[in-house]
Amino acid sequence: MYICICKAIREREVDAAVRAGARRPSDVFRACGKSPQCGTCACDMRERIAHTIAHERTTQTLLAAD
Ligand code: FES
Repeated sequence: MYICICKAIREREVDAAVRAGARRPSDVFRACGKSPQCGTCACDMRERIAHTIAHERTTQTLLAAD
């Protein structure tokens, strides 16, 4: 699914950028080699970034518990 329609950035690309250290939409655009256009996606992108960070933390916690 696309998070950013203008620049064709998908959820999986946001996730990859977060795993590489992105924490803000501007970081994601930079990681994808693109720049924002209309900005409509900023809220959804922030939510996806937060979701992916939470998922990564949960996964790391579960792996550390093993
Ligand atoms: S939807 Fe992302 S810049 Fe327009």
